[in-house]
Amino acid sequence: MERPRRLRSPLLRPLVAEVELSPKRLILPLFVKEGGEREEVPSMPGVFRHPLSEIAKVGEQALGAGLGGVILFGVLPEGAKDPLGRGAYAEEGVVQRAIRLLKREVPGLLVMADTCLCEYTDHGHCGVVREGPSGFYVDNDATLALLARTALSQAQAGADAVAPSAMMDGQVRAIREALDGAGYAHVPILSYAVKYASAFYGPFREAAGSAPQFGDRAGYQMDPRAGLWDALREAALDDLEGADILMVKPALPYLDVLRELKGRFAKPLFAYQVSGEYAMLKAAALRGWLDERRAVLESLYALRRAGAQGLLTYYALEAARWLREELGP
Ligand code: PBG
Repeated sequence: MERPRRLRSPLLRPLVAEVELSPKRLILPLFVKEGGEREEVPSMPGVFRHPLSEIAKVGEQALGAGLGGVILFGVLPEGAKDPLGRGAYAEEGVVQRAIRLLKREVPGLLVMADTCLCEYTDHGHCGVVREGPSGFYVDNDATLALLARTALSQAQAGADAVAPSAMMDGQVRAIREALDGAGYAHVPILSYAVKYASAFYGPFREAAGSAPQFGDRAGYQMDPRAGLWDALREAALDDLEGADILMVKPALPYLDVLRELKGRFAKPLFAYQVSGEYAMLKAAALRGWLDERRAVLESLYALRRAGAQGLLTYYALEAARWLREELGP
């Protein structure tokens, strides 16, 4: 008789296991603001908006935990935003300053920057908004130049990688050309290639104050009801345009997509466990409805099993600690 249980003894389980997770796989998203005190994000208990003054300390923690790196998101006061998102590509922008600080104070840490405009525009859209005959629209090609400027300013500040997330057509090509033309051909692009218009970004938008003031992002982010064709098309385009790493976002609700992309492109694949996924796990854990540690690690193992090399997760620091505890002293 076939008996799968024969391989489930304590000594054999680890030997036959195929999927591994280590802190090096994890990337911690960080919200950075200019000054003031750190503030906890209401819908993301345990996640903070950090002032620049404490960003090096958090960077030290990430390095000490053995994480793969951090990815930075800027948080601006309402009054500092404008229609063109100038804060995204300002030389003294909050993300640019945070990158310089981290590269100086925590040299061993990999620092990536999210490349988008929605945290810096007063209307909250990811690009240049125009009035058309049937309402507003986001002007794709006018936005490309601003995204390229943003990526270049991040590279100039010392970013180890830039991560375009605006879902404008041609953004990877525009950024690649800008970087190459300015002497930053060595800076890789982590592309949010397959990014859905998702309700699971809600807590992030609270954290960054980046919810659209009118309309939604369905005109540029992907339709969750679209079939696999849309994911393949987006990934193939970013592949051709020169992305170095392809990412799927959100993670767990799109595990099927992640799996389908695996092996189709000769590039690493990442997954982003987004703010709403964090919020769900955290809320249930705080109520005692889930064993947080087991539920979080199980979700991350699922992403590794589906084929992701790198995992962006707000749980990165805790998960790294849990993984170390699992290994023992
Ligand atoms: C910027 C961006 C968003 C997220 C990452 N980059 C917000 C959005 O698209 O609305 C969401 C990340 C998360 O929910 O954790 N465009």
